[in-house]
Amino acid sequence: MPATTPLRLAIIVGSTRDGRFAPIVAEWTRAHAAGRDDLTVDVVDLIETPLPTVFPAFGQPPAPGTAELLAEVSPRLAAADAFVIVTPEYNHSFPAALKNAIDWHNREWHAKPVGFVSYGGVSGGLRAVEQLRVVLAELHAVTVRDTVSFHGHWDKFDADGKAVDPASDAAAKTMLDQLVWWAHALRDAKAVRPYAA
Ligand SMILES: Cc1cc2nc3c(=O)[nH]c(=O)nc-3n(C[C@H](O)[C@H](O)[C@H](O)COP(=O)(O)O)c2cc1C
Repeated sequence: MPATTPLRLAIIVGSTRDGRFAPIVAEWTRAHAAGRDDLTVDVVDLIETPLPTVFPAFGQPPAPGTAELLAEVSPRLAAADAFVIVTPEYNHSFPAALKNAIDWHNREWHAKPVGFVSYGGVSGGLRAVEQLRVVLAELHAVTVRDTVSFHGHWDKFDADGKAVDPASDAAAKTMLDQLVWWAHALRDAKAVRPYAA
């Protein structure tokens, strides 16, 4: 694939809570990514793509109805060259719905980069991000160093959904620049040599 072909970015929205703050952070993230000419963007919002929490036995097909639900998510993850996970912090970790969506997949994560935009109270969701790094390493994904985090996110966006601190916009650019670097490097490498999982 030519290096100039835009990378396919999937933004995964990790909160499925009623009354969630997530759409504000997700839309801000989407706008940053969509403003670049090196990315095409697909927002995978887990509230729109619920997945069961009961897994099939090893080697067995999913329960009736599950394949249809997975069809709304899995091909989009498989098609992605890179991911940004938008996550809040729940009890010093990340939401169960996000872990469930991660666990339903395996090869979809392999040899792909993942960036993070997090939000929460005093820690800005950073504890959730650090735990996600451990989980995603098991799935052969590469997490990028720089993240975007909003501590006390409730007053970090204006009525138009813009970040009130310009440092947040600068942080988004840094994170996406690193993500794109990794996504190009890994896409190019996989074109030459399949990933050895
Ligand atoms: C179950 C639960 C646990 C939470 N635990 C933490 C926490 O450990 N640290 C923190 O900073 N905020 C915590 N919060 C606050 C959330 O980060 C905050 O409510 C945020 O808006 C949640 O994202 P959402 O509105 O998109 O679901 C918690 C919220 C919930 C619902």
